[in-house]
Amino acid sequence: MAPTNVAFESWTQNVRLVEWICEMAELCEPERIWLCDGSQKEYDQLAALMVESGTFIKLNDSLRPNSYLCRSNPDDVARVEDRTFICSEKKEDAGPTNNWYDPIDMERILMGLFKGCMRGRTMYVIPYSMGPLGSDIAHIGVEITDSPYVVCNMRTMTRMGSAVLEMLGDGFFVPCMHSVGAPLEEGKKDVPWPCNAKNKYIVHFPEKRTIWSYGSGYGGNALLGKKCFALRIASAMARDEGWLAEHMLILGITNPAGKKKYFAAAFPSACGKTNLAMLTSRLPGWKVETVGDDIAWMKFGKDGRLYAINPEAGFFGVAPGTSDQSNPNAMASIKRNSIFTNVAYTDEGDVWWEGMSKESPKHLISWLGEEWTPGSEKKAAHPNARFTAPIAQCPVVDPAYEDPAGVPISAILFGGRRPSVMPLVCEAFNWQHGTFFGASVSSQTTAAAAGAVGKLRHDPFAMLPFCGYHMGDYFRHWLAMGENAEASKLPRIYTVNWFRQDNEGKWLWPGFGENSRILKWIFERTDGEKHADETPIGYLPKEGALDLNGLSLSPKDLKELLTVDKKGWQNEIAELKDYFTLFGNRLPEEFKEEVRDLEKRLNS
Ligand code: GTP
Ligand code: SPV
Ligand code: MN
Repeated sequence: MAPTNVAFESWTQNVRLVEWICEMAELCEPERIWLCDGSQKEYDQLAALMVESGTFIKLNDSLRPNSYLCRSNPDDVARVEDRTFICSEKKEDAGPTNNWYDPIDMERILMGLFKGCMRGRTMYVIPYSMGPLGSDIAHIGVEITDSPYVVCNMRTMTRMGSAVLEMLGDGFFVPCMHSVGAPLEEGKKDVPWPCNAKNKYIVHFPEKRTIWSYGSGYGGNALLGKKCFALRIASAMARDEGWLAEHMLILGITNPAGKKKYFAAAFPSACGKTNLAMLTSRLPGWKVETVGDDIAWMKFGKDGRLYAINPEAGFFGVAPGTSDQSNPNAMASIKRNSIFTNVAYTDEGDVWWEGMSKESPKHLISWLGEEWTPGSEKKAAHPNARFTAPIAQCPVVDPAYEDPAGVPISAILFGGRRPSVMPLVCEAFNWQHGTFFGASVSSQTTAAAAGAVGKLRHDPFAMLPFCGYHMGDYFRHWLAMGENAEASKLPRIYTVNWFRQDNEGKWLWPGFGENSRILKWIFERTDGEKHADETPIGYLPKEGALDLNGLSLSPKDLKELLTVDKKGWQNEIAELKDYFTLFGNRLPEEFKEEVRDLEKRLNS
């Protein structure tokens, strides 16, 4: 077998782990095995290796210390939903929204793909924890990969290395197998971004709690702790064990009197989670702090309240559109120790992307490695270009972000990109109605996944690409979580929409920091304030209840943002009814009831 950098015995006592590594090494035939310790030294060593191989470009150290630029293969730039599979034993358990594949047939395919796939490469073994070490909401995974880029990203995105192995002992971990699917022939020079552009498989076995990913080195396809484990596998674990694994940011919000609450919010990919999670309030005395920007794991505590942890330790954030104006806290988070993938490179050795500054630099090297000047036809950065940065570097990181107990959630927000119909904000009547809000989310598609952009599609709970089992059962699980809890202690549920447009396609709502005005209203509602009107769709802010001080918003636009568009809603209901038929007899009766009641309220 391939040699290891350190002896197995000195690295772990976990017999199952060692056996698995040996089995995988035999299958993949790597040249050597690197058992990761997660140290800064190791990170620096791998980064240096990638600089040498041309994968990384070290950025100007005086402008952006200890940071790197990386350009992917143009055919490997985002999640690939049509190549993502849920291989549950029974087809009906994957449900109508997932690509199901027979697990036995899939195993045969994977054995073929992984046979010898790491020839000429190093096989890295990454022990990592999703969540603060020792939290009883956290879980441990081990990723095997042949990509040093993945190792460096995983070190920032998770708690990784020796401390995790110590915590693991001889306990359970989720095995995550990853290969870029590009064996290196002897004597052949490697390419900067090895991948298998034409043959990608992102595969989940929910019953076995295992993950196999082949052919892609990008984001959620390759950093397996994120979408594959923390959402697809974890959602199945959560269903079985009575908790929630969600595509949600977590933020802390403090009012001028010093009272603090925590909110979680689910928006589809590239629809504003990172921005909301670290928003700079436009209202004097109000403060937002960040617990997480993408994923929340939530469990009921002994006191009956719902507690959330962020399983991640880093941001893998959308770069384009991020600026000192739109998101100064993100800009501060990526000042050092960051990896930039598919952004543009400046003459000074720094990074740039569309929206970072009003005027672009006069000359750049684009994400494609091509000369770029203002007015160039192609974009300088890929629309799904991303930064990887430690959460700890966020100036407004919440003091409780590492608290193993998590933070108590007072409100849950759902939202998406909806140019019309959906109001700026609306509160659900109760948990069941709020669950129906979640199930009703639809949103325009974005560059976060390969495929068309701007197409309106249903994305229930912002989990369409991430639910590891039958979405109808997932709806039921949400309802059951509410039924088993004390109603007064449940988070209130809201729907929000920052993306309403006028006839010319201009945003009706300024968004970003101004969203603090909506957070304030939600804070006060959860605090018992009454200032809302009951409408057919839910509670809307009473006239004058939204704090719009200092904002120039025309009364006409405000009205448009906050009125119930009866015709629009009738179409919405018809469409939703049709969509719900997809779930057959696994659609909860409660949702049929919600549709009926909504219809009745609208028409009365
Ligand atoms: P993922 O990491 O893919 O899950 O995305 P995300 O939900 O964290 O989205 P993010 O905050 O990175 O925002 C994605 C895009 O939406 C960026 O281009 C932002 O500039 C834009 N955006 C975020 N918030 C707002 C807002 O309030 N209004 C408008 N108009 N655009 C926004
Ligand atoms: C998303 O697409 O929702 C992301 C980016 O957060 S990725 O990690 O690639 O899934
Ligand atoms: Mn996401």
